[in-house]
Amino acid sequence: MSGHDELDPNLHPPEAGAEVSLRPRLLREFIGQDSLKANLSVFLDAAQKRRECLDHLLLYGPPGLGKTTLAHIVANEMQTTAHVTSGPTLQVPGDLVGILTNLEPGAVLFIDEIHRLPRPVEEILYPAMEDRRVDILIGKGPAARSIRLEVPPVTVVGATTRQGLLTGPLRDRFGIVFHFDFYDEAALFQIVTRSSRLLGYVMDDAGAREIARRSRGTPRIANRLLRRVRDFATVDGLDAIGLPVVVKALGALEIDERGLDRLDRAYLYAIVGTHGGGPVGLETIAATLGEDSGTLEDVVEPYLLQRGLLARTPRGRTATPAAASHLGLKLKAETDGRLDL
Ligand SMILES: Nc1ncnc2c1ncn2[C@@H]1O[C@H](COP(=O)(O)OP(=O)(O)OP(=O)(O)O)[C@@H](O)[C@H]1O
Ligand SMILES: [Mg+2]
Repeated sequence: MSGHDELDPNLHPPEAGAEVSLRPRLLREFIGQDSLKANLSVFLDAAQKRRECLDHLLLYGPPGLGKTTLAHIVANEMQTTAHVTSGPTLQVPGDLVGILTNLEPGAVLFIDEIHRLPRPVEEILYPAMEDRRVDILIGKGPAARSIRLEVPPVTVVGATTRQGLLTGPLRDRFGIVFHFDFYDEAALFQIVTRSSRLLGYVMDDAGAREIARRSRGTPRIANRLLRRVRDFATVDGLDAIGLPVVVKALGALEIDERGLDRLDRAYLYAIVGTHGGGPVGLETIAATLGEDSGTLEDVVEPYLLQRGLLARTPRGRTATPAAASHLGLKLKAETDGRLDL
């Protein structure tokens, strides 16, 4: 999942534009994640009072919960620039050395998808973060010599969807580690209300609450659903968004009452229907669905686990009775008895 969507030239400009304008720029505009915000605001305050950089910061959690947003907020709050790069972009040590030695003092270096840094690049990062130096080898064979370059004082902000894939030494070099939780309905309600205001749309509370309830605990999904609902409202010639158009749009998008989408339901059905409720290995589920196992692990599973629809056991994934009954209810609702996937 690309973190810096606003830089992705492949996105349609209106969509990308909307994403950028909905992104909070300061900590006080950032909704939810209250304990994370409270701690971060102390650390920012302390760093500013001491006229130091903020300690290196690691952000982890499922896609769309605000990691990239928060990295930019840190730079804005420290009144400095964020330089954005990512694990897969930094292919050889020289790529990172070039960036590190050219940063202005106090800058924020945001490394998205940091779990995908190639090992030799990661090894450049250790001394840079710890001792503000990099050692590089010049030349080859007997004539080779090592030179030491200084790195200005900067804050490295790393983001990852999977902390488990980070090596121990890399994780240990972050003085601050924040985990993002899924957002509760109250926070998502505020996000939807704020976004609809920014998009210039009138939205009633019942409509906003319904979008919040069906957003899989994820601000990015809340904003995406809001834009689709707005499309339905535009086509229907409505100038205000209320519950009926929300229900209509979400129904058309096949988002169910729990906020599960097609892939979520297909995933659960693969366990409940095809593999007898589990336990079944992730790779087997991926093969059943013809999906990438990494996508399932990053995007689908965290929310199902959090909602108690899925359990992970040493022998594989199992669907909970709640999942079976959710799918069963859908089954009963279908007149022809087919599962509504
Ligand atoms: N706390 C928040 N308050 C308001 N809006 C938010 C918040 N967090 C995220 N958003 C919105 O959700 C969008 C997605 O957030 P962001 O791109 O920061 O997620 P991410 O965690 O970096 O995802 P990925 O892992 O896919 O890179 C943002 O553009 C922003 O509009
Ligand atoms: Mg991101």
